[in-house]
Amino acid sequence: AAHHVYEATCTAPVNIAVVKYWGKRSTSLILPTNSSLSVTLSQDHLRSLTTARCMVDGQGTDRLWLNGEEEEIKAGGRTARCLEEMRAMRQEVEAKNASLPKLSSYPVHIASENNFPTAAGLASSASGLSALIATLSTLYDLPSNGVSTSSLSRIARQGSGSACRSMFGGYVAWEMGAREDGSDSVAVEVAPKEHWPDMHALILVVSDAKKGTPSTAGMQRTVATSALLQHRIEHVVPARMERMSAAIQARDFDAFAKETMADSNQFHAVCLDTEPPIFYMNDVSRAIIQLVTELNRVSLEKEGRLVAAYTYDAGPNAVLYVQEKDVKSVLEVVLRYFPQSTTSFPDPFQTQADPSTAL
Ligand code: PMV
Repeated sequence: AAHHVYEATCTAPVNIAVVKYWGKRSTSLILPTNSSLSVTLSQDHLRSLTTARCMVDGQGTDRLWLNGEEEEIKAGGRTARCLEEMRAMRQEVEAKNASLPKLSSYPVHIASENNFPTAAGLASSASGLSALIATLSTLYDLPSNGVSTSSLSRIARQGSGSACRSMFGGYVAWEMGAREDGSDSVAVEVAPKEHWPDMHALILVVSDAKKGTPSTAGMQRTVATSALLQHRIEHVVPARMERMSAAIQARDFDAFAKETMADSNQFHAVCLDTEPPIFYMNDVSRAIIQLVTELNRVSLEKEGRLVAAYTYDAGPNAVLYVQEKDVKSVLEVVLRYFPQSTTSFPDPFQTQADPSTAL
């Protein structure tokens, strides 16, 4: 018999939400209580790289290595579920085309690594699960057999909610959907990266310690106890999704920045409204908010426009969205006020085509 090695390698970057996902209406399917919207960063700085191989001659089971260490694939766990769903999609393709190799019947070995410290609280699950689904879909040749990126995002979602948004580059919405089976809870492209290429994300690592309350436990507690979350879900997010999409379509940085900061603030207010309360930001995070607020106040006065938008996820690290023309001056001010900072690049002011600069 012909001897083939079936192998695929893909990368996926992290994404940083500007309208936050916080709350599940189904924990098993990972269905959110509100839609969300994010920017997928470039591959250069924060990404997962995953290789998957079909063991056509081997017996045994699926196996997984993360950053070189083997991890157990727990039966009924999220990774197992993703593998199951991907196999089912491959089986459908095989059923329609009998000449295709029956890859769905072989075990897979998967190795994944991040090019950034996994413990740094920088959304490694989004890039990791997204890279896993992208790699398996390539291995199984699904895109050329009519499987869309949105339907792949439906599976990535079941690995980690925010991972569904990293299946697309650029500006991406995760539509919460209405169906109980989650078939309409998928990521969709709002605009490609090229639509607004001079957007940069500056990542200010305030602490690289592992975060306190994991997102799954935190969301569960917020859904169970916060009245503010109910207000946010019903009366804030739907209109904000509309305004955010419109701001992106129009490349209106002021509107984008205003909505981004308001949404980060409300997400952390919702955490504070949780019983017992969840604190993700620390004193340095809050000092960065004050600095950005002051920068924007001065710029509004002088030039009638905003220069930076801060946003924080489930940890103290800041992400600043800044337009290319303002990256140098914003970084200068950050480094002046936080002089112990180091940048991860020899020349932080070197401008790049891709919208990501790590600090
Ligand atoms: O997908 P998870 O479980 O890592 O949750 C991510 C939640 C936030 O990062 C705080 C917000 C978001 O939309 O990414």
